[in-house]
Amino acid sequence: MNQQANVTYRERDKAAVLHPQTNLLKHLQTGPTVITGADGVFVLDDSGKRYLDSGAGLWCSSLGYHNERVARVAYKALQELAYVPIFRGQSHGPAIDLSEKLLKIAPVPMSKVLLQCSGSEGNDSAVKIVWYYWHGMGKPQRRKIITRAGSYHGSTCVAISMTGNASYHKSFGLPFPGFIHTDGLNYYRSARPSETEEQFSQRLADSLEATIIREGPETIAAFWADPVQGNAGALPPPRGYFEKVQAVLRKYDILFVVDEVICGFGRTGEMWGSQTYDLRPDLLVCAKGLSAAMLPISAVLISEKIFKVMMEESNRIGAFVHGFTYAGHPVASAVALEVLKIYDEMDIVGRVKSLEPAFLDMLKSLTGHPLVGDASGVGLIGGLEIVADKATRKSFGPEIRISELIEKHARKAGILLRITPGRIAYSPPLIISEAEIAEIGRLTRIALDGALQELKASA
Ligand SMILES: Cc1ncc(COP(=O)(O)O)c(C=O)c1O
Repeated sequence: MNQQANVTYRERDKAAVLHPQTNLLKHLQTGPTVITGADGVFVLDDSGKRYLDSGAGLWCSSLGYHNERVARVAYKALQELAYVPIFRGQSHGPAIDLSEKLLKIAPVPMSKVLLQCSGSEGNDSAVKIVWYYWHGMGKPQRRKIITRAGSYHGSTCVAISMTGNASYHKSFGLPFPGFIHTDGLNYYRSARPSETEEQFSQRLADSLEATIIREGPETIAAFWADPVQGNAGALPPPRGYFEKVQAVLRKYDILFVVDEVICGFGRTGEMWGSQTYDLRPDLLVCAKGLSAAMLPISAVLISEKIFKVMMEESNRIGAFVHGFTYAGHPVASAVALEVLKIYDEMDIVGRVKSLEPAFLDMLKSLTGHPLVGDASGVGLIGGLEIVADKATRKSFGPEIRISELIEKHARKAGILLRITPGRIAYSPPLIISEAEIAEIGRLTRIALDGALQELKASA
């Protein structure tokens, strides 16, 4: 593409495209970064600049940005059967094959698979399934959903109501009532002096129990958790957290839904985050890595306990009246199935496990930097705590705009960093090499140095 065409592209973007998660006014001034190609774990912009993509797009491009095998499967699927709905008992091979495969690899025994198109749809549908279940159980008053501060579950009205981050609710009049947010999990930021991780986890579990009692256990439908909190900065849970929390849920007969949208398919060094942290979900939601983001698809895995009640309820009222036109899309299903085959052949879990030490060492090596207070991660997901003062663990005030500052220097250095308030989050493509992990460390250091120098210069 020539330079003239690129300039035009930028202008045309500003005139035509509305970008999610973007300051719409500023965008009209700055314009887009137009990505025109990719090479392994690098993406290229329209000026030919290469960026190491340390976040795999949006935690999803596990196999990078092109794959000949997957492309051939998509082409064949498009030629054979480009679309068939799965409503009203109709079915097709790719949806059946994919559902069987997901049941085979599920972290706990699961009974059925509801195919959807995105993580948000998956979580939204799972909320409806939870409510349907409690109706079927004769307890329709069990409606409240508890999630954690720092968790993101999607952008539909319900999924964003579950999201524990007030900045996503502003100016939308959300969250809906009945969506309750319990404590975040950041041990480094929130632990009391001399509190151990186990004690911190116990305090969080006690606080969850207090919330349940305050709200009325008979009104609580489900508790939702993402094994590693992506939106909180790729934050792993503190030691003992899930064991203690699951005991509370069992005590009050509250359903447990695990959002594996980021953590599924090898990200944490096991096939599922549920295996890494010994979770026993009643429902499991997955997306992203399911197709390595090559086509939109997600799935809700449903346990026999839930399915049995859904079956009776659907018979009682006539049907399970829920569905999206593109649910179980044959082309997306065929692509996901091929991606899962590729994961098996490359031993994705073994690969992530073998890269984990280099990844965690790289994160740890950055804790020597004056702006980095701590590092934590698991598998190929983790983050750095950004601090204004290491000794006091003090954060930067909003007036400093530290995220923007680091991001600016990261772009200059040639790395895409995902910076959440207070943390840099990493989730590189799972095809990354050890040398490229070291390169993430080198480029991050350059970005942090640049930000620090600019801070000092403006002080
Ligand atoms: C944990 C988690 N759940 C759900 C979602 C929503 O998925 P989607 O953007 O596909 O709707 C995301 C997206 O980043 C996520 O990180």
